[in-house]
Amino acid sequence: MKIAVVGTGYVGLVTGTCFAETGNHVTCIDIDKKKVEKLKNKIMPIYEPGLDLLFERNIKQGRLEFTTSLSEGIKGAKIIFLALPTPPGEDGSADLKYILGVANELGPLLDEYTVIVDKSTVPVGTAEKVRANIQKGAKVEFDVVSNPEFLREGVALDDFMKPDRVVIGTSSERAKKIMDNLYAPLVRQGNPIIVMDEKSAELTKYAANSFLATKITFMNEIANMCELVGADVDMVRKGVGTDSRIGKRFLFAGIGYGGSCFPKDVQALAKSAKEVNYDFEILTAVMSKNESQKMKLIDRIKTHFNGDLSGKTFAVWGLAFKPYTDDIREAPSLVNIKELLAAGAKIKTYDPEAMENVKEIFGNEIEFCKDEYDAAQGTDALLIMTEWPVFRTPDFGKLDSALKNKLIFDGRNLYNTETMAELGYTYHSIGRAT
Ligand code: UGA
Repeated sequence: MKIAVVGTGYVGLVTGTCFAETGNHVTCIDIDKKKVEKLKNKIMPIYEPGLDLLFERNIKQGRLEFTTSLSEGIKGAKIIFLALPTPPGEDGSADLKYILGVANELGPLLDEYTVIVDKSTVPVGTAEKVRANIQKGAKVEFDVVSNPEFLREGVALDDFMKPDRVVIGTSSERAKKIMDNLYAPLVRQGNPIIVMDEKSAELTKYAANSFLATKITFMNEIANMCELVGADVDMVRKGVGTDSRIGKRFLFAGIGYGGSCFPKDVQALAKSAKEVNYDFEILTAVMSKNESQKMKLIDRIKTHFNGDLSGKTFAVWGLAFKPYTDDIREAPSLVNIKELLAAGAKIKTYDPEAMENVKEIFGNEIEFCKDEYDAAQGTDALLIMTEWPVFRTPDFGKLDSALKNKLIFDGRNLYNTETMAELGYTYHSIGRAT
Protein backbone atom coordinates (compact mmCIF):
# COMPACT_ATOMS: atom_id res chain seq x y z
CA MET A 1 0.00 0.00 0.00
CA LYS A 2 1.21 3.53 -0.67
CA ILE A 3 1.25 5.81 2.37
CA ALA A 4 2.23 9.42 2.98
CA VAL A 5 3.31 10.82 6.32
CA VAL A 6 3.20 14.59 6.74
CA GLY A 7 5.68 15.73 9.41
CA THR A 8 9.05 14.12 10.06
CA GLY A 9 9.24 14.70 13.79
CA TYR A 10 9.56 11.88 16.23
CA VAL A 11 6.13 10.36 15.61
CA GLY A 12 6.25 10.83 11.83
CA LEU A 13 9.64 9.20 11.45
CA VAL A 14 8.82 6.23 13.63
CA THR A 15 5.44 5.77 11.91
CA GLY A 16 6.87 6.13 8.41
CA THR A 17 9.84 3.85 9.01
CA CYS A 18 7.79 1.14 10.72
CA PHE A 19 5.10 1.07 8.05
CA ALA A 20 7.83 0.80 5.40
CA GLU A 21 9.25 -2.11 7.40
CA THR A 22 5.87 -3.89 7.17
CA GLY A 23 6.09 -3.68 3.36
CA ASN A 24 4.33 -0.44 2.49
CA HIS A 25 5.73 2.27 0.26
CA VAL A 26 6.04 5.36 2.45
CA THR A 27 6.77 8.95 1.49
CA CYS A 28 7.53 11.30 4.37
CA ILE A 29 6.87 14.99 3.74
CA ASP A 30 8.29 17.98 5.58
CA ILE A 31 8.56 21.69 4.78
CA ASP A 32 12.05 21.83 6.34
CA LYS A 33 14.32 21.57 3.30
CA LYS A 34 17.51 20.99 5.31
CA LYS A 35 15.91 18.18 7.25
CA VAL A 36 14.56 16.48 4.13
CA GLU A 37 17.99 16.75 2.48
CA LYS A 38 19.56 15.05 5.49
CA LEU A 39 16.92 12.32 5.53
CA LYS A 40 17.50 11.65 1.85
CA ASN A 41 21.17 11.23 2.70
CA LYS A 42 20.22 8.65 5.34
CA ILE A 43 20.98 10.97 8.26
CA MET A 44 18.57 10.28 11.10
CA PRO A 45 17.83 13.50 13.04
CA ILE A 46 16.59 11.82 16.22
CA TYR A 47 18.06 9.26 18.58
CA GLU A 48 15.81 6.25 19.00
CA PRO A 49 17.36 2.83 19.63
CA GLY A 50 17.07 0.54 16.58
CA LEU A 51 15.38 3.09 14.33
CA ASP A 52 18.46 3.88 12.20
CA LEU A 53 18.79 0.24 11.15
CA LEU A 54 15.21 0.02 9.88
CA PHE A 55 15.49 3.49 8.38
CA GLU A 56 18.57 2.63 6.30
CA ARG A 57 17.20 -0.74 5.20
CA ASN A 58 13.93 0.68 3.95
CA ILE A 59 15.54 3.60 2.14
CA LYS A 60 17.92 1.15 0.47
CA GLN A 61 15.04 -1.06 -0.60
CA GLY A 62 13.17 1.93 -2.03
CA ARG A 63 10.23 1.71 0.37
CA LEU A 64 11.00 4.90 2.29
CA GLU A 65 11.30 8.27 0.54
CA PHE A 66 11.36 11.93 1.52
CA THR A 67 10.16 15.12 -0.10
CA THR A 68 9.30 18.72 0.69
CA SER A 69 6.40 18.70 -1.75
CA LEU A 70 2.98 17.85 -0.37
CA SER A 71 1.49 17.30 -3.83
CA GLU A 72 4.36 14.99 -4.92
CA GLY A 73 4.43 13.11 -1.62
CA ILE A 74 0.75 12.24 -1.47
CA LYS A 75 0.50 11.08 -5.11
CA GLY A 76 -1.14 7.65 -5.12
CA ALA A 77 -1.28 7.44 -1.30
CA LYS A 78 -4.27 5.52 0.05
CA ILE A 79 -3.58 6.80 3.54
CA ILE A 80 -2.13 10.17 4.57
CA PHE A 81 -0.90 10.44 8.16
CA LEU A 82 -0.77 13.87 9.77
CA ALA A 83 2.06 13.72 12.30
CA LEU A 84 2.48 17.42 12.90
CA PRO A 85 3.38 19.29 16.06
CA THR A 86 0.66 20.54 18.40
CA PRO A 87 2.65 22.85 20.68
CA PRO A 88 0.89 24.38 23.67
CA GLY A 89 -0.34 27.89 22.95
CA GLU A 90 0.00 30.63 25.56
CA ASP A 91 -3.16 29.47 27.34
CA GLY A 92 -2.03 25.81 27.45
CA SER A 93 -4.37 24.56 24.74
CA ALA A 94 -2.92 22.62 21.79
CA ASP A 95 -2.13 24.90 18.84
CA LEU A 96 -3.63 23.32 15.71
CA LYS A 97 -2.24 25.73 13.12
CA TYR A 98 0.08 23.18 11.49
CA ILE A 99 -2.53 20.43 11.20
CA LEU A 100 -5.31 22.70 10.00
CA GLY A 101 -2.94 24.43 7.57
CA VAL A 102 -2.04 21.13 5.90
CA ALA A 103 -5.71 20.08 5.91
CA ASN A 104 -6.49 23.28 3.98
CA GLU A 105 -3.91 22.44 1.35
CA LEU A 106 -4.93 18.79 1.06
CA GLY A 107 -8.48 19.18 -0.27
CA PRO A 108 -7.68 20.22 -3.87
CA LEU A 109 -4.74 17.80 -4.04
CA LEU A 110 -6.74 14.60 -3.48
CA ASP A 111 -7.66 12.84 -6.73
CA GLU A 112 -9.14 9.60 -5.40
CA TYR A 113 -10.70 8.31 -2.18
CA THR A 114 -8.13 8.75 0.63
CA VAL A 115 -8.04 8.13 4.37
CA ILE A 116 -6.52 11.05 6.26
CA VAL A 117 -5.30 10.05 9.68
CA ASP A 118 -4.71 12.34 12.68
CA LYS A 119 -1.68 10.79 14.35
CA SER A 120 -0.75 13.87 16.36
CA THR A 121 -2.11 14.30 19.85
CA VAL A 122 -5.08 16.55 19.24
CA PRO A 123 -7.99 17.78 21.36
CA VAL A 124 -11.48 16.43 20.94
CA GLY A 125 -13.12 17.90 17.88
CA THR A 126 -9.96 18.19 15.78
CA ALA A 127 -10.92 15.44 13.29
CA GLU A 128 -14.11 17.40 12.68
CA LYS A 129 -12.11 20.58 11.97
CA VAL A 130 -9.66 18.72 9.73
CA ARG A 131 -12.59 17.25 7.80
CA ALA A 132 -14.18 20.68 7.35
CA ASN A 133 -10.91 22.18 6.08
CA ILE A 134 -10.32 19.39 3.57
CA GLN A 135 -13.95 19.46 2.47
CA LYS A 136 -13.65 23.11 1.40
CA GLY A 137 -11.44 22.18 -1.56
CA ALA A 138 -12.12 18.47 -2.07
CA LYS A 139 -13.34 17.04 -5.39
CA VAL A 140 -13.33 13.42 -4.24
CA GLU A 141 -14.56 11.39 -1.27
CA PHE A 142 -12.31 11.03 1.79
CA ASP A 143 -12.47 9.99 5.43
CA VAL A 144 -10.73 11.50 8.44
CA VAL A 145 -9.70 9.03 11.12
CA SER A 146 -8.28 9.62 14.59
CA ASN A 147 -5.46 7.17 15.36
CA PRO A 148 -3.53 8.34 18.43
CA GLU A 149 -0.06 6.96 19.08
CA PHE A 150 1.13 5.49 22.36
CA LEU A 151 4.88 5.34 21.68
CA ARG A 152 7.34 5.85 24.48
CA GLU A 153 10.61 7.47 23.49
CA GLY A 154 13.47 5.04 23.86
CA VAL A 155 11.32 1.96 23.22
CA ALA A 156 9.25 3.36 20.36
CA LEU A 157 10.01 0.55 17.91
CA ASP A 158 8.75 -2.10 20.27
CA ASP A 159 5.71 -0.02 21.15
CA PHE A 160 4.96 0.48 17.46
CA MET A 161 5.59 -3.06 16.28
CA LYS A 162 3.94 -4.76 19.27
CA PRO A 163 1.31 -2.31 20.48
CA ASP A 164 -0.82 -3.12 23.55
CA ARG A 165 -3.69 -1.88 21.40
CA VAL A 166 -4.39 0.21 18.34
CA VAL A 167 -7.11 2.84 18.72
CA ILE A 168 -8.99 3.82 15.56
CA GLY A 169 -11.62 6.54 15.73
CA THR A 170 -13.97 6.43 12.75
CA SER A 171 -17.56 5.71 11.86
CA SER A 172 -16.68 4.86 8.23
CA GLU A 173 -16.63 1.13 7.37
CA ARG A 174 -14.52 1.86 4.32
CA ALA A 175 -11.82 3.64 6.34
CA LYS A 176 -11.96 0.98 9.06
CA LYS A 177 -11.18 -1.78 6.55
CA ILE A 178 -8.17 0.10 5.18
CA MET A 179 -6.83 0.80 8.68
CA ASP A 180 -7.41 -2.83 9.78
CA ASN A 181 -5.43 -3.97 6.80
CA LEU A 182 -2.57 -1.58 7.54
CA TYR A 183 -2.29 -2.61 11.19
CA ALA A 184 -2.87 -6.35 10.65
CA PRO A 185 0.88 -7.24 10.73
CA LEU A 186 1.23 -5.50 14.11
CA VAL A 187 -1.61 -7.19 15.98
CA ARG A 188 -0.92 -10.79 15.01
CA GLN A 189 -0.37 -11.75 18.67
CA GLY A 190 -3.99 -10.95 19.36
CA ASN A 191 -3.65 -7.44 20.71
CA PRO A 192 -6.80 -5.58 19.80
CA ILE A 193 -7.62 -2.91 17.28
CA ILE A 194 -10.24 -0.94 19.16
CA VAL A 195 -12.59 0.92 16.84
CA MET A 196 -14.61 3.74 18.32
CA ASP A 197 -16.05 7.12 17.41
CA GLU A 198 -13.44 9.75 16.61
CA LYS A 199 -14.06 11.94 19.67
CA SER A 200 -13.56 9.02 22.04
CA ALA A 201 -10.33 8.14 20.22
CA GLU A 202 -9.09 11.71 20.57
CA LEU A 203 -9.92 11.75 24.28
CA THR A 204 -8.37 8.30 24.84
CA LYS A 205 -4.91 9.66 24.14
CA TYR A 206 -5.23 12.52 26.64
CA ALA A 207 -6.86 10.22 29.19
CA ALA A 208 -4.03 7.67 28.90
CA ASN A 209 -1.22 10.21 29.30
CA SER A 210 -2.99 12.17 32.03
CA PHE A 211 -3.82 9.00 33.93
CA LEU A 212 -0.19 7.85 33.79
CA ALA A 213 1.03 11.29 34.88
CA THR A 214 -1.45 11.15 37.76
CA LYS A 215 -0.31 7.65 38.69
CA ILE A 216 3.31 8.83 38.90
CA THR A 217 2.35 11.96 40.82
CA PHE A 218 0.31 9.91 43.26
CA MET A 219 3.37 7.77 43.97
CA ASN A 220 5.51 10.88 44.35
CA GLU A 221 3.03 12.05 46.97
CA ILE A 222 3.18 8.67 48.69
CA ALA A 223 7.00 9.00 48.62
CA ASN A 224 6.76 12.37 50.34
CA MET A 225 4.49 10.82 52.97
CA CYS A 226 6.93 7.91 53.38
CA GLU A 227 9.70 10.33 54.26
CA LEU A 228 7.57 11.96 56.94
CA VAL A 229 6.37 8.75 58.59
CA GLY A 230 9.53 6.67 58.08
CA ALA A 231 8.13 4.24 55.48
CA ASP A 232 9.82 3.04 52.28
CA VAL A 233 8.19 3.92 48.94
CA ASP A 234 9.80 0.94 47.20
CA MET A 235 8.02 -1.41 49.58
CA VAL A 236 4.72 0.43 49.22
CA ARG A 237 5.13 0.30 45.42
CA LYS A 238 5.60 -3.47 45.52
CA GLY A 239 2.72 -3.82 47.94
CA VAL A 240 0.24 -1.92 45.81
CA GLY A 241 1.62 -2.80 42.37
CA THR A 242 0.95 -6.50 42.80
CA ASP A 243 -2.77 -5.71 42.93
CA SER A 244 -3.69 -6.37 39.32
CA ARG A 245 -6.25 -3.57 39.47
CA ILE A 246 -3.38 -1.13 40.05
CA GLY A 247 -0.59 -2.77 38.03
CA LYS A 248 3.17 -2.65 38.48
CA ARG A 249 4.13 -0.11 35.88
CA PHE A 250 4.49 3.66 36.14
CA LEU A 251 4.60 3.55 39.93
CA PHE A 252 8.21 4.68 40.31
CA ALA A 253 8.58 7.77 42.47
CA GLY A 254 11.18 10.27 41.36
CA ILE A 255 11.87 13.93 40.80
CA GLY A 256 8.83 14.49 38.61
CA TYR A 257 7.79 13.49 35.14
CA GLY A 258 9.09 15.36 32.10
CA GLY A 259 9.26 14.93 28.35
CA SER A 260 7.36 16.33 25.42
CA CYS A 261 4.09 14.54 26.20
CA PHE A 262 2.92 14.26 29.80
CA PRO A 263 3.39 17.94 30.76
CA LYS A 264 1.83 19.18 27.51
CA ASP A 265 -1.06 16.71 27.47
CA VAL A 266 -2.07 17.13 31.12
CA GLN A 267 -2.15 20.89 30.56
CA ALA A 268 -4.14 20.56 27.33
CA LEU A 269 -6.72 18.23 28.88
CA ALA A 270 -7.21 20.60 31.82
CA LYS A 271 -7.68 23.42 29.30
CA SER A 272 -10.14 21.42 27.17
CA ALA A 273 -12.14 20.69 30.32
CA LYS A 274 -12.25 24.39 31.17
CA GLU A 275 -13.60 25.15 27.70
CA VAL A 276 -16.63 23.01 28.45
CA ASN A 277 -16.95 24.58 31.89
CA TYR A 278 -15.58 21.58 33.72
CA ASP A 279 -12.99 22.06 36.44
CA PHE A 280 -10.75 18.99 36.16
CA GLU A 281 -9.25 19.73 39.57
CA ILE A 282 -7.18 16.58 39.88
CA LEU A 283 -5.14 17.64 36.85
CA THR A 284 -4.43 21.07 38.32
CA ALA A 285 -3.08 19.35 41.42
CA VAL A 286 -0.99 16.94 39.31
CA MET A 287 0.63 19.85 37.44
CA SER A 288 1.51 21.88 40.52
CA LYS A 289 2.70 18.83 42.48
CA ASN A 290 4.93 17.78 39.61
CA GLU A 291 6.56 21.21 39.57
CA SER A 292 7.27 21.09 43.29
CA GLN A 293 8.57 17.52 43.02
CA LYS A 294 11.20 18.68 40.53
CA MET A 295 12.59 20.99 43.26
CA LYS A 296 12.67 18.34 45.92
CA LEU A 297 16.36 17.59 45.93
CA ILE A 298 17.28 21.26 45.71
CA ASP A 299 15.57 21.85 49.04
CA ARG A 300 17.50 18.98 50.57
CA ILE A 301 20.78 20.14 49.08
CA LYS A 302 20.23 23.63 50.47
CA THR A 303 19.42 22.23 53.90
CA HIS A 304 22.51 20.03 53.82
CA PHE A 305 24.79 22.95 53.01
CA ASN A 306 23.02 25.33 55.43
CA GLY A 307 21.63 27.40 52.56
CA ASP A 308 25.04 28.36 51.17
CA LEU A 309 25.93 26.79 47.83
CA SER A 310 28.31 29.47 46.58
CA GLY A 311 31.63 28.00 45.55
CA LYS A 312 30.27 24.45 45.77
CA THR A 313 30.53 22.14 42.75
CA PHE A 314 27.95 19.48 41.94
CA ALA A 315 28.24 16.48 39.65
CA VAL A 316 25.03 15.88 37.69
CA TRP A 317 24.59 12.38 36.28
CA GLY A 318 21.93 12.33 33.58
CA LEU A 319 20.30 15.19 31.66
CA ALA A 320 17.70 13.52 29.42
CA PHE A 321 14.14 13.39 30.80
CA LYS A 322 14.51 9.61 30.85
CA PRO A 323 17.05 7.01 29.63
CA TYR A 324 17.56 5.94 26.00
CA THR A 325 16.76 9.35 24.59
CA ASP A 326 18.58 12.62 23.96
CA ASP A 327 15.34 14.51 24.61
CA ILE A 328 15.60 17.15 27.34
CA ARG A 329 12.18 18.75 26.96
CA GLU A 330 10.76 19.52 30.45
CA ALA A 331 13.58 17.45 31.93
CA PRO A 332 13.90 17.84 35.72
CA SER A 333 17.70 18.14 35.23
CA LEU A 334 17.25 21.58 33.63
CA VAL A 335 15.42 23.18 36.54
CA ASN A 336 17.82 21.61 39.02
CA ILE A 337 20.86 22.93 37.16
CA LYS A 338 19.30 26.40 36.84
CA GLU A 339 18.58 26.50 40.59
CA LEU A 340 22.08 25.40 41.51
CA LEU A 341 23.68 27.94 39.19
CA ALA A 342 21.43 30.67 40.57
CA ALA A 343 22.59 29.75 44.07
CA GLY A 344 26.22 30.27 43.00
CA ALA A 345 27.18 26.60 42.55
CA LYS A 346 29.19 25.11 39.69
CA ILE A 347 28.10 22.07 37.66
CA LYS A 348 30.01 19.21 36.06
CA THR A 349 27.81 16.83 34.10
CA TYR A 350 27.68 13.68 32.02
CA ASP A 351 24.86 12.14 29.99
CA PRO A 352 25.37 9.38 27.39
CA GLU A 353 23.15 11.08 24.76
CA ALA A 354 21.76 14.45 25.76
CA MET A 355 24.83 16.66 26.28
CA GLU A 356 24.72 18.30 22.85
CA ASN A 357 21.14 19.43 23.44
CA VAL A 358 21.95 20.82 26.88
CA LYS A 359 24.97 22.70 25.48
CA GLU A 360 22.50 24.73 23.44
CA ILE A 361 20.88 25.94 26.67
CA PHE A 362 23.76 26.36 29.12
CA GLY A 363 26.75 26.71 26.76
CA ASN A 364 29.92 27.00 28.81
CA GLU A 365 28.06 27.90 32.00
CA ILE A 366 28.46 24.26 32.98
CA GLU A 367 31.19 21.71 32.34
CA PHE A 368 30.42 18.72 30.09
CA CYS A 369 32.51 15.68 30.94
CA LYS A 370 33.67 12.56 29.13
CA ASP A 371 32.16 10.08 31.57
CA GLU A 372 30.44 9.81 34.95
CA TYR A 373 33.68 9.64 36.97
CA ASP A 374 35.13 12.64 35.21
CA ALA A 375 31.95 14.52 36.11
CA ALA A 376 32.29 13.48 39.77
CA GLN A 377 35.95 14.48 40.00
CA GLY A 378 36.53 17.07 42.73
CA THR A 379 32.83 17.82 43.32
CA ASP A 380 31.10 18.37 46.66
CA ALA A 381 28.18 16.05 45.93
CA LEU A 382 26.60 13.91 43.22
CA LEU A 383 23.11 14.56 41.91
CA ILE A 384 21.39 11.80 39.88
CA MET A 385 18.74 12.99 37.43
CA THR A 386 18.29 10.16 34.88
CA GLU A 387 18.34 6.40 35.45
CA TRP A 388 20.74 5.47 32.62
CA PRO A 389 21.87 1.87 33.19
CA VAL A 390 25.53 2.93 33.34
CA PHE A 391 24.76 4.82 36.58
CA ARG A 392 23.12 1.87 38.28
CA THR A 393 26.21 -0.10 39.20
CA PRO A 394 29.10 2.34 39.39
CA ASP A 395 32.56 1.41 40.60
CA PHE A 396 32.14 2.90 44.07
CA GLY A 397 35.89 2.75 44.70
CA LYS A 398 36.44 5.01 41.71
CA LEU A 399 33.52 7.24 42.67
CA ASP A 400 34.77 7.57 46.28
CA SER A 401 38.13 8.83 45.15
CA ALA A 402 36.57 11.22 42.63
CA LEU A 403 34.09 12.88 45.02
CA LYS A 404 35.23 15.30 47.75
CA ASN A 405 32.44 14.07 50.04
CA LYS A 406 30.59 10.77 50.09
CA LEU A 407 27.34 12.57 49.43
CA ILE A 408 24.65 11.62 46.89
CA PHE A 409 21.27 13.16 46.08
CA ASP A 410 19.50 10.56 43.96
CA GLY A 411 16.30 11.55 42.14
CA ARG A 412 15.81 8.07 40.69
CA ASN A 413 16.35 5.72 43.66
CA LEU A 414 19.12 3.78 41.92
CA TYR A 415 20.80 2.30 44.99
CA ASN A 416 19.92 0.24 47.97
CA THR A 417 19.89 2.46 51.08
CA GLU A 418 21.53 -0.20 53.29
CA THR A 419 24.37 -0.75 50.82
CA MET A 420 24.96 2.99 50.66
CA ALA A 421 25.08 3.20 54.44
CA GLU A 422 27.59 0.32 54.51
CA LEU A 423 29.69 2.15 51.95
CA GLY A 424 29.69 5.18 54.22
CA TYR A 425 27.61 7.46 52.02
CA THR A 426 25.19 10.13 53.09
CA TYR A 427 22.54 9.09 50.60
CA HIS A 428 19.41 11.13 49.93
CA SER A 429 16.80 9.46 47.72
CA ILE A 430 13.05 9.79 47.17
CA GLY A 431 10.60 8.36 49.68
CA ARG A 432 13.13 6.30 51.62
CA ALA A 433 15.09 6.73 54.85
CA THR A 434 18.27 8.79 54.43
C1 UGA B 1 4.56 8.99 27.02
C2 UGA B 1 3.62 7.79 27.08
O1 UGA B 1 4.16 6.80 27.98
C3 UGA B 1 3.42 7.17 25.69
O2 UGA B 1 2.48 6.11 25.76
C4 UGA B 1 2.89 8.27 24.75
O3 UGA B 1 2.72 7.80 23.45
C5 UGA B 1 3.87 9.42 24.73
O4 UGA B 1 4.04 9.93 26.05
C6 UGA B 1 3.32 10.48 23.80
O5 UGA B 1 2.27 11.04 24.10
O6 UGA B 1 3.87 10.69 22.72
P1 UGA B 1 7.23 9.34 26.89
O7 UGA B 1 6.95 10.80 27.12
O8 UGA B 1 8.17 8.94 25.80
O9 UGA B 1 5.85 8.53 26.61
O10 UGA B 1 7.88 8.79 28.24
P2 UGA B 1 7.43 7.86 29.46
O11 UGA B 1 8.22 6.62 29.44
O12 UGA B 1 5.98 7.74 29.54
O13 UGA B 1 7.96 8.76 30.68
C7 UGA B 1 7.41 10.05 30.95
C8 UGA B 1 7.98 10.61 32.24
O14 UGA B 1 7.47 9.93 33.35
C9 UGA B 1 9.49 10.54 32.35
O15 UGA B 1 9.99 11.77 32.85
C10 UGA B 1 9.73 9.43 33.34
O16 UGA B 1 10.93 9.57 34.06
C11 UGA B 1 8.53 9.59 34.25
N1 UGA B 1 8.17 8.35 34.96
C12 UGA B 1 7.73 7.26 34.27
C13 UGA B 1 8.26 8.33 36.35
O17 UGA B 1 8.65 9.32 37.01
N2 UGA B 1 7.90 7.17 37.00
C14 UGA B 1 7.46 6.08 36.34
O18 UGA B 1 7.13 5.06 37.02
C15 UGA B 1 7.38 6.11 34.94
